[in-house]
Amino acid sequence: MERLQKILAQAGVASRRKCEELILAGKVEVNGETVKELGTKADPAQDIITVNGKPIKSEQKVYLMMNKPKGVITSASDPEGRKIVSDYLKGVKERVYPVGRLDYDTEGLLLLTNDGEFANLLTHPRHHVPKTYVATVKGVPHGTELDKLRRGIQLEDGMTAPAEVEYKDVDPDGKESVISITIYEGRNRQVRRMFEAISHPVIRLKRIAFGDLLLQNLKRGLMRPLTKDEVNRLIQLAKSEKKRQGRRR
Ligand code: URA
Repeated sequence: MERLQKILAQAGVASRRKCEELILAGKVEVNGETVKELGTKADPAQDIITVNGKPIKSEQKVYLMMNKPKGVITSASDPEGRKIVSDYLKGVKERVYPVGRLDYDTEGLLLLTNDGEFANLLTHPRHHVPKTYVATVKGVPHGTELDKLRRGIQLEDGMTAPAEVEYKDVDPDGKESVISITIYEGRNRQVRRMFEAISHPVIRLKRIAFGDLLLQNLKRGLMRPLTKDEVNRLIQLAKSEKKRQGRRR
């Protein structure tokens, strides 16, 4: 038996919060009875659960990682007709969606799933799952400027949490440098804004790791399913980061 909002989210109806709203609005029935209480439990294998009169599909849970190319948008649709991530999902019949987002111009590791709980766990701001990026930036930031990123830097939406920052490569004529940065938050355009704040704007950005999951040599535009072990490790990591951060406060 599972909570109804969890079953609905896992069936890909909507996010867990939206599913709670559907329940409260009286749109959900279990075995023909309208259920409006959020704590209600049901058995997805036995009970007939409908939303707006339509039975939910009990989809197999799918976990994928993709190497998102630059110039692809992570939303479900784009009014400007730009390429979207689902254009790359040939052969995946489940309704998967991105776990968090990558900017249009950012490439690299993007997780996709139809498991709302998993997506929520990994993107929840309290869970502090590390994400590592390789940023090619204009010029060569001084070590003291990178220290600012390491300590946390003031952005318009507040201080950033401490980040891990390392030089990877420096152009001999000083035009650009390659820096790896691991952040524990997921604010909008965060890495770009952090480098802008030290006056070294990002030229190219690629996410190479999500938790301990590495992009490795997955070709641009391709995807692969995660192994059970990879899924479980990400879940454990999100749970343990939450505990660790809780103890620090
Ligand atoms: N930070 C950014 O600036 N862009 C992304 O796409 C991800 C993190």
